[in-house]
Amino acid sequence: MRKPVIAANWKMYKTPTESVAFLHEFLPLVKACCDLEIAIYPTMSSLASVIEAVKGTNVSAGAQTMHWLNEGPYTGQTSPTMLASINCDHVLLGHSERRIYAHETDDMVNWKLKAALAQGLVPMVCVGETAEKRDSGLTEAVLRWQISCALNSIRPQDAAPIIIAYEPVWAIGTGSVARPDQIADAHRIIRREIAGRLGKHAASEMRILYGGSVKPENIARLMAEPEIDGALVGGASLDPHSLASIIENALPVKRAISL
Ligand code: PGA
Repeated sequence: MRKPVIAANWKMYKTPTESVAFLHEFLPLVKACCDLEIAIYPTMSSLASVIEAVKGTNVSAGAQTMHWLNEGPYTGQTSPTMLASINCDHVLLGHSERRIYAHETDDMVNWKLKAALAQGLVPMVCVGETAEKRDSGLTEAVLRWQISCALNSIRPQDAAPIIIAYEPVWAIGTGSVARPDQIADAHRIIRREIAGRLGKHAASEMRILYGGSVKPENIARLMAEPEIDGALVGGASLDPHSLASIIENALPVKRAISL
């Protein structure tokens, strides 16, 4: 049985003051929620404030990216040890906006994943095809490639903390959420690739989330699909009541799936 996760990617929104104000409203709304995990990924400048504000609650905080090295002459970067030193416990890796605008490659995602695991961070690796690749019938090839690169030389015994977020690029911030059957197909491809790399046990335990235009109105339909273990939410996570509604509507119990 995989415990569902609802994760909020705040992208480049919210100052520290705005982040803490969000949490003052949000935390009481979800304090009774224990059937799923909740993680919030604020901007780097708000991360320490968010970590402080969620301390002792059922909500975790994470960074939206990090470097793979622990220190060095890399202007603008933050290292895994720096995240750990402020008690950050999650990190998002390979989001399509990082791949597109910061030219993050599949190799870099792999280096970051290894660094995150070595540091004891919970890594969430984002993968997903563009509209162009889907229209050319290349969705499976893209997903298999991204997953196999990300997991390159990861040992099965180290893989338990890894979470995968399937985020078709064409669904992010567009309002066109993918259909549950399209998502389930993608998740099965991803899970088969994980099984090939890490074995069936690791594959059947790994949480695979969906991301792309998730809203309070569509989350129940998505979560009804047994392959979907939760959601990574961008725009609709910026309002505390909207994120709390997504969590509430996601709650009905998930079924275990065998490969
Ligand atoms: P969206 O973003 O929910 O605004 O589509 C999702 C994401 O980029 O993680």
